[in-house]
Amino acid sequence: MRILVTGGAGFIGSHLVRRLVADEQNVVVNLDALRYSGNLENLADLVGHPRHTFVRGDICDVKAVEDVFREHGIAAVINCAAETHVDRSILDPDQFARTDVIGTGVLLEASRKAKVTRFLQVSTDEVYGSVERGHSKEGDVLDPRSPYSASKAGGDLLVRSYWTTYRFPALITRGSNTYGPNQYPEKFIPLFITNAIDDQPLPLYGDGRYRRDWLSVFDHCSGIEHALRQGEPGTIYNIGGGNERENIAVAETILSRLGKPKSLLRFVQDRPGHDRRYAIDCGRLRESGWAPAVSFEEGLRATIDWYRDNQTWWRKIKSGEFRTYYEQMYGQRLKDGTSCVS
Ligand code: TYD
Repeated sequence: MRILVTGGAGFIGSHLVRRLVADEQNVVVNLDALRYSGNLENLADLVGHPRHTFVRGDICDVKAVEDVFREHGIAAVINCAAETHVDRSILDPDQFARTDVIGTGVLLEASRKAKVTRFLQVSTDEVYGSVERGHSKEGDVLDPRSPYSASKAGGDLLVRSYWTTYRFPALITRGSNTYGPNQYPEKFIPLFITNAIDDQPLPLYGDGRYRRDWLSVFDHCSGIEHALRQGEPGTIYNIGGGNERENIAVAETILSRLGKPKSLLRFVQDRPGHDRRYAIDCGRLRESGWAPAVSFEEGLRATIDWYRDNQTWWRKIKSGEFRTYYEQMYGQRLKDGTSCVS
């Protein structure tokens, strides 16, 4: 199958491309704009691979997208291209509406004209909003609360409308918080691992007791591929790891694995509109035969070891544009922060 993966130089996208090209029956065309978190080093082992073609381009660019369909004869599309970081969406919401809503619309329309047999939208459990109790199901009302999750919800609604209106064979997956190697170090787990390696403070928002369900990137990619192959068009599938943890517990595990003291933990000013908890019911995908394979303890340990052993990869990122972002996001917070050790 000739599959177009967008955002294939990013974190989840690059793992997905690697997984798909490992199957001899797949040819992957990888369209990525190489914005701040897209990184060709994530694909270094695929350079020259006979079944992988990289194309630089933005999903908002109608001509670039149409050219890919014309030149490569695409049968299926997986849309991983997205702006994904909540904190950046608070600083710069416009870019989120552009990529996550308009870009999805451009890709949908080009895919419909090209008559692809499957279109899978990679979405997020954040579209359900904060879930104080229980677990979100696919049919639940959406209640996104950040510019990021609102933009993703907008993209999801467009995708749904293509199924309803045109019977266009679209599916949506909603993954929970994903972690693993090659994740851009603005996100909680890689930020805390890399800061701890450098003996820098770990900034816990609020009381540190916010809860997320952690999903290994390998399980997330197996879930996406499973939904693409076994899923019903017009259907949404939650993908979760079943590993609900408080942020402070995850931070303590990271410190302990790296042999660093708890005194590196700092309680800092909270994120505005911070969702207390995400939790999803994954019964639908599990009933179709998918299950996660990586335990959180094992996956987190392997991820910490990867960052410890691949410092060139993240040091290059952290010494660039990231420094300005970090200062803006954390400079004052860390000055005002309090130690978690009394
Ligand atoms: P994040 O990785 O940004 O994912 P999301 O907010 O999309 O779930 O954050 C995961 C959790 O960690 C979330 O509750 C916010 C918290 N967090 C911190 O406490 N400090 C930080 O510096 C970051 C980036 C996140």
